[in-house]
Amino acid sequence: MTVIRNDKQPGNSDLMRASVESILRHQEPNGAIIASRDFVTYHYCWLRDGSFIAFAMDRAGEHEAARRFHDWVSGAIAGIAELIEDSINRVRGGVPLDLTHMPPARFALDGSTVTDDWPNFQIDGYGTWLWALAHHLQVTGADSVPEQLWESVDRVARYVDALALTSCFDVWEESGTARHGSTLACVYGGLVAAASLLNRPELRERADAVRASASESTKRFGRFVKSTESDAVDSSLLWLSTPFGVTTADDPCFVETVRTIEQQLTFEGGLRRYPQDIYYGGGSWPVLTASLGWHYAAAGDTAAALRCLAWVTDHFDQAGRLAEQFAGERRDPENYAAWVGRWGMPAADLTWSHAMHVVLCTELEAQERLSAEPIP
Ligand code: BGC
Repeated sequence: MTVIRNDKQPGNSDLMRASVESILRHQEPNGAIIASRDFVTYHYCWLRDGSFIAFAMDRAGEHEAARRFHDWVSGAIAGIAELIEDSINRVRGGVPLDLTHMPPARFALDGSTVTDDWPNFQIDGYGTWLWALAHHLQVTGADSVPEQLWESVDRVARYVDALALTSCFDVWEESGTARHGSTLACVYGGLVAAASLLNRPELRERADAVRASASESTKRFGRFVKSTESDAVDSSLLWLSTPFGVTTADDPCFVETVRTIEQQLTFEGGLRRYPQDIYYGGGSWPVLTASLGWHYAAAGDTAAALRCLAWVTDHFDQAGRLAEQFAGERRDPENYAAWVGRWGMPAADLTWSHAMHVVLCTELEAQERLSAEPIP
């Protein structure tokens, strides 16, 4: 592993390795990746978190861990085949969805579904899984979808295709009656991936329709907005450009989105989720601050990316843990206390936080390598 050299972040590559090791410790022998071990509400495997984490593992060269995750997902998908087919048939037949019986956002670690009142209908994770799997197959040199994964990839692709433009809960598991900018981004990324994995050009056309819909329904005031129901900004809109490519980093509308995100959502140097966020006081998230850094690194603004990285690395604790969020107790003490009363202390070590740290480090590393290459 190449050491990332920059004066502001000595020892950075050791920390990246610490994140990789932490992720490996959060992976079960069967491939499932637990969202957080110290926070009981997160003792599950989310498709969204897990897919970003598998992507990070591939970036770090831990292909075997990523493969085990994808195999585990494939098994979990086989277990909910009926749920998926029922949702597809309802949408195709014009029959209302049964929101109490939707493919889940999170699974138990053995891959089974959990019967509770969690807002399960979040389609983003299914798109993100297709995107992460396509990346995994590409970087491991597979020239086609392995036989044992094919049925699940086909099923998830048909599900994402059918429900791409249906309102659902967002990446924060909220607001189930809207269509959300970042969900559309994940769906777009998934459809583009599935089109090439399955060699189905019609999925690419569907992806283009999703892109058009994101522009029509979540662009207002010269920037992207949170959803069809909210003009607010949301840090997850960063994914519209990096990694999913609905738009480009230099699209004026996206530039304005990033400016607004930084202006409205920076708190104590990190990025919050959205202005009205009260979850554990609505503090700043490593996942999002690293996402901003990822965007800057990919866009070639290394200095801005390093600033984001510095914030993330400063928030590791002595034990090498990286929490879900920081400073909510100072920003909004009342709501922080209310959530502590409800679910206990917040996640002190979140696997997804480590993953986005790894993604940012590897992106900077890749950019450094590119800029070192002689111009032909
Ligand atoms: C976040 C989700 C995340 C889950 C597990 C929730 O608080 O809103 O985006 O998937 O935690 O990390």
